[in-house]
Amino acid sequence: MSSTTVDLVISGGTVVTHETTFPGSIAVDKGRIVAVGEVAIMPSARETLDAKGLHVLPGAIDVHVHFREPGYTHKEDWETGTAAAAMGGTTTVFDMPNVEPPTGTPAALALKLEAAKKAYVDYGIYGLLAEDNVDQLEALIEGGVAGFKCFMGNTFGNLPSPSTGAMLEAFEIIAKHGYRISLHAETASIMAWRQKKLMAAGKHAPLDHLAARPAVVAIEAVARAAILAEWTGARIHVLHISSADELRPLREAKARGVDITGETCPQYLLHDTTDYARLGSIIRVNPPVREPHHKHALWAALKDGTVDMIATDHAPHTPEEKIKNDIWTADCGWPGVETQMPLMLTAVSEGKLSITDYVRISAYNPARAWGLHPAKGAIVPGADADIAIVDLSRTDTIEQEKLASRSKITTFHGMKVKGVPMHTIVRGRFVMRDRKLVTAAKGHGQSVRRIQRMPTPRPMNVDQTMASVLGRTTT
Ligand code: DOR
Ligand code: ZN
Repeated sequence: MSSTTVDLVISGGTVVTHETTFPGSIAVDKGRIVAVGEVAIMPSARETLDAKGLHVLPGAIDVHVHFREPGYTHKEDWETGTAAAAMGGTTTVFDMPNVEPPTGTPAALALKLEAAKKAYVDYGIYGLLAEDNVDQLEALIEGGVAGFKCFMGNTFGNLPSPSTGAMLEAFEIIAKHGYRISLHAETASIMAWRQKKLMAAGKHAPLDHLAARPAVVAIEAVARAAILAEWTGARIHVLHISSADELRPLREAKARGVDITGETCPQYLLHDTTDYARLGSIIRVNPPVREPHHKHALWAALKDGTVDMIATDHAPHTPEEKIKNDIWTADCGWPGVETQMPLMLTAVSEGKLSITDYVRISAYNPARAWGLHPAKGAIVPGADADIAIVDLSRTDTIEQEKLASRSKITTFHGMKVKGVPMHTIVRGRFVMRDRKLVTAAKGHGQSVRRIQRMPTPRPMNVDQTMASVLGRTTT
């Protein structure tokens, strides 16, 4: 027995890592994990949580949420968005820049960082990579972004997609600093062309949205971005992979040594075209939900590691903004940060994934991709005590009215789940306990830039003439 007394011992649960599970207890002090092992070796603690019958996981890291503040707080804000994360076992979120003003300048970033002070969970902020802010990228890094977001295709907020020329220069700049660039990989010009023709032909049904965005838009965008990443040494991440077809350019880029990661989301694993008739305009999302064979390929790709992680594209809107007769006027996406863990644990209970697969894709891989590991995404001494304690045998039904998110409309409404997060701990502090939000923990969340460490970037290809024109050195 140690003579020191720690803040918390989580005793008697089953600890899950990205590789293994074992019966074990965890000691937490001053926000960090200080011991992992048998209950007999645990120090004395001011508080003990009995985790008998429960599984103890690293909290989920969701690298794709839209918390809408500043600008669209009727849909969501940092308090409701991070409360939803806490209720869902998610301990770190990365927030997207399509707010108002868009997070493309240090001044806009400062507004976002101020809004984020209400957060229950830890967070990274994406800076925008656009045609007109290439000269702002280094200032955004200095200001504290955790990575960048590039909208190669239009979506909510209608931020114009940058030209390939602007992207190349932006990739060169960001590559020097080692930050990852997340891509909305759908080519805007193909979609605009097709949507115009569909609209002119009077098409406005839910499936016409899919017709405007066939998988070729994603294949083209992933392949093009991978070429730029290979040339510049930039690290990239493919958001919301929705199709079997994108997996080929993703695999090829990985095989060439490009530092490329990819995510898919529950909507692409659980829905398919047979859901359009039932859900109508609610199912409108970018990229669109596709034919059944895509979801089977995505499950296999998660399992074999081609797709590195699960994220949610948490995209809250109001019911009035979602339910429309004309599909082109319905807002895209729905909330997901709160339902990801129960939905994916249900897949674990059905044998689609193992529980260690789940930890790998929900916590370990995202932490590694963003330079947060081993401070996050791991249950080891020294790591942040970011923990989700889950009951794998508990059943529940997703009810949209009960979501902590301000948005009360989701395609997952009515789904039965097996596997529920019971407690969420962020740096040693309960933010959700016994399925209840700990409101006193509002504001506990911190920016992950405090711990982010990006390894040395890979060498890039820069021709000397352009380097001098662009005012950059090649070393
Ligand atoms: O459906 C979507 N909604 N896809 C996106 O990429 C953005 C999101 C939003 O912000 O509403
Ligand atoms: Zn998104």
